Amino acid sequence: MEKTFVMVKPGGVQREYVGEILSRFEKKGVKIVALKLMRMSRELAAKHYVEHEGKEFFNDLIDTITAGPVVAMVMEGKEIVQIVRKMAGSTKPLDAMPGTIRGDYVLDTGHNVIHTSDSVESAKREIALFFKEEEILTYNLATEEWIYTLPY
Ligand code: RTP
Ligand code: MG
Repeated sequence: MEKTFVMVKPGGVQREYVGEILSRFEKKGVKIVALKLMRMSRELAAKHYVEHEGKEFFNDLIDTITAGPVVAMVMEGKEIVQIVRKMAGSTKPLDAMPGTIRGDYVLDTGHNVIHTSDSVESAKREIALFFKEEEILTYNLATEEWIYTLPY
């Protein structure tokens, strides 16, 4: 099953949105297969956001993402990368639709409370940066057949 990397950013943790954000994904039927509260080093932040190195907002981005603890997660599901990204909402606050996480909680691009991988390839790279293989669990949710398979 497809996996994606999701992170509640320091602003989301400080504003106490961890439960709210997790709850949205749980209600959708997304399976959490890895989760940890951690503080990112500047080195890890620079690797995570390597595609933005050299851009004018890069230093602010690294300062912001390392400013406090984050909740790093791996989520699993059908077409999960794009589904989770849609639930997070657009990067620009004006484009983030109400009903999405950013659409409901974000007014400024640099304070957008959640990160989600933008492609299956990015997800693989990001998951490997944050988690060891043995930290990613394989298990069945009791509700799974009602989310995907029944009635046959
Ligand atoms: P993220 O990677 O953090 O989940 O956000 P994203 O995919 O929606 O946006 P991305 O283009 O990857 O940008 C990464 C982060 O950089 C900051 N940003 N600032 N001032 C700007 O024009 C600008 N553009 C991007 C945002 O904090 C964004 O989350
Ligand atoms: Mg991005």
